[in-house]
Amino acid sequence: MLLGRDTILARCHELARAIAAEYTAQPPCIVAVLEGARTFTEQLTKLLPGRPRYHEVRASSYGAGTVSSGKVVVTGSAPPVAGQRVLLVEDIVDTGRTIDKLRAWLLELGAVDVRVATLLSKPSRRVVTVPLDYVGFEIPDEFVIGYGMDYAGKYRELPDVVIYQPQHAEAGGEGSAG
Ligand code: PRP
Repeated sequence: MLLGRDTILARCHELARAIAAEYTAQPPCIVAVLEGARTFTEQLTKLLPGRPRYHEVRASSYGAGTVSSGKVVVTGSAPPVAGQRVLLVEDIVDTGRTIDKLRAWLLELGAVDVRVATLLSKPSRRVVTVPLDYVGFEIPDEFVIGYGMDYAGKYRELPDVVIYQPQHAEAGGEGSAG
């Protein structure tokens, strides 16, 4: 196990306090990057004061593998963020391509500013320099699953963040490394 649920929860409390200190006038407009950030966003939102507006965008670059394809695919309609201060919430920032693309898109859509909260960051993998305002944990270059994060669509429901091992596929009994 890399990060247990209690450790994650404690860090979420700290991040929520830091976020609340920034958005004193009104809560940020939260934009969750699905699918992976759903669990983290739900937890963070519960801990923030007020009732933040909430939107979802879908971006994917991994498909069924453990290595980013390098091509970020954004699907779905544009969130109504014009005039809003946006908090973009990610589960993990790896190369930085996804956040870079979404941040630019949200600013084009008229967001006043875009800050980024991510549960995990892999600094050693960065290809694009992106400002990260709230980082839960910096982790080594390992493929992780659980707490919303998947391998080929599986393991998102695991309560802890764990490093993916080939035996996960064997234990799961369905499918294999894609
Ligand atoms: C993951 C993660 C980020 C992105 C980070 O998404 O949720 O959105 O990759 O990688 P990057 O910094 O190299 O762009 P994924 O493609 O696994 O889609 P998912 O969240 O739907 O599982």
